Amino acid sequence: MTGRATVVAVDGPSASGKSTISRMVALRLGFVYVDSGSMYRAVTWKALESDLDVNDTVQVIAMLHRIKIHFDVRNHEAQMLIDGFWPGDAIRAPRVAEKVSIVAAIPEVRQVLVAHQRSLTRFGDLVREGRDIGSVVFPNTPHKFYIEANAAERAKRRQKDFAAMQIEASTEGVAQALAQRDKLDSSRAVAPLQIALGATVVDNSINPPERTVEIILEQIARQQGL
Ligand code: CDP
Repeated sequence: MTGRATVVAVDGPSASGKSTISRMVALRLGFVYVDSGSMYRAVTWKALESDLDVNDTVQVIAMLHRIKIHFDVRNHEAQMLIDGFWPGDAIRAPRVAEKVSIVAAIPEVRQVLVAHQRSLTRFGDLVREGRDIGSVVFPNTPHKFYIEANAAERAKRRQKDFAAMQIEASTEGVAQALAQRDKLDSSRAVAPLQIALGATVVDNSINPPERTVEIILEQIARQQGL
């Protein structure tokens, strides 16, 4: 338990399959699903829409203080609205993916978004995915998972995501972009991607998602003494 709400933390690198798994776990448990990566992406999207240079930290922080952020729950998923607008799939575009790790490394951005993320327990029990949920956002939850998958599988999955959005990308280009983002996310000074203390590591390279979901649900049931 974290406060009165139960929080399941699902961390891991890009395209490891965390979103699919987290959504399925949330559905099985009847919890609200929260994608923290979408929040960093939405702030990055807003900065690009505002023609900001994301390397200009002062400008990005000033923008963050100008915008109004609020959350809705739709179809059991928390959605972050900026100035009343939900950007939807625009946050998945390669131009956002290219810059998001730069924005996510700004301590003030993390401070603001982590505070919002913690406040979401007002919606009840949550399955939350990200990079630092088990290590920083909810370190006291007993239900921590780290989902990994090999690089080739991750590149294949991300290419499929792009294809579904009619975005063409070469396997090599996708693999390089993922490796670059892993490097930035793992080496940043604040809340780097890491396996949280006490997390259960699940390799999601070969198993079908249903199997990974079962592993997670069994572990949660064990932790809850069911
Ligand atoms: O969808 P994908 O796995 O590629 O990434 P994401 O979960 O949408 O996250 C996008 C980016 O946001 C990551 O590469 C990190 O730079 C950042 N992020 C973060 O810093 N902390 C989180 N809790 C979640 C995402």
